[in-house]
Amino acid sequence: MNAAAPSARTAAIVPAAGRGERLGPGAPKALRTLAGQPMLLHAVRALAAARSIDLVVVAAPEDGVDEARSILAGLDTEAEIVIVSGGETRQDSVARALLALPADVDVVLVHDAARPLVPPDVVDRVSAAVRGGHDAVIPTLGVVDTIKEVDDGIVIGTLDRSRVHAVQTPQGFARAVLQRAHASSEGSDATDDAGLVERMGVVVHTVAGDEEAFKITRPLDLVLAEAILVRRRASGGVV
Ligand code: C5P
Repeated sequence: MNAAAPSARTAAIVPAAGRGERLGPGAPKALRTLAGQPMLLHAVRALAAARSIDLVVVAAPEDGVDEARSILAGLDTEAEIVIVSGGETRQDSVARALLALPADVDVVLVHDAARPLVPPDVVDRVSAAVRGGHDAVIPTLGVVDTIKEVDDGIVIGTLDRSRVHAVQTPQGFARAVLQRAHASSEGSDATDDAGLVERMGVVVHTVAGDEEAFKITRPLDLVLAEAILVRRRASGGVV
């Protein structure tokens, strides 16, 4: 990455337009509540609490832009908040948010609204690694289960667990690299942004993730998230 101009800013894009069908029927996932507050509010608060983030761009559900705006209006933060309408796929939602970035942003993190409890330290770790010169950085964790490749119910092989990592967000990029990756892979519906960047042959670096940055996908994940928030409240931490 080229040396940043002194005034260059770091933005976080938050794809938040998913329906969350695996959670069961109801409002779009990011607008559902955790400990009485929408998941989106938790996620944006965590990003804005990170020292490295100047601006947050949310890709809201198409029919939830006004709701997202009113949810985030009360957030006490110096970070600028921009809301755009998301797309049909996660990748479309990120692409739309990229279009809304101001010219002075040179580092972009992409963070799933579905990971509302990410500790701000993880956000700053990813930003620092990009600012330090890496074009692409992802937070990862080791896996505890043995991982097998299965085809049609038959085990094809067992992966070496020590070489397998679970990938979280935020994923951080030099802005130009992420924009190029999205421009060259329209319609491919990748599940993460680093996947698009890898296809261009860019080296993707890892930093330590955090168990609390887990993705809320299934009903049991809500139980875990509520328990974490109860513990944070009891210890006087940020919720
Ligand atoms: O579905 P999944 O949990 O993988 O979604 C990851 C993130 O991508 C979620 O925060 C979700 O709101 C977002 N997403 C989006 N636009 C879509 C689909 C998913 O912003 N069309």
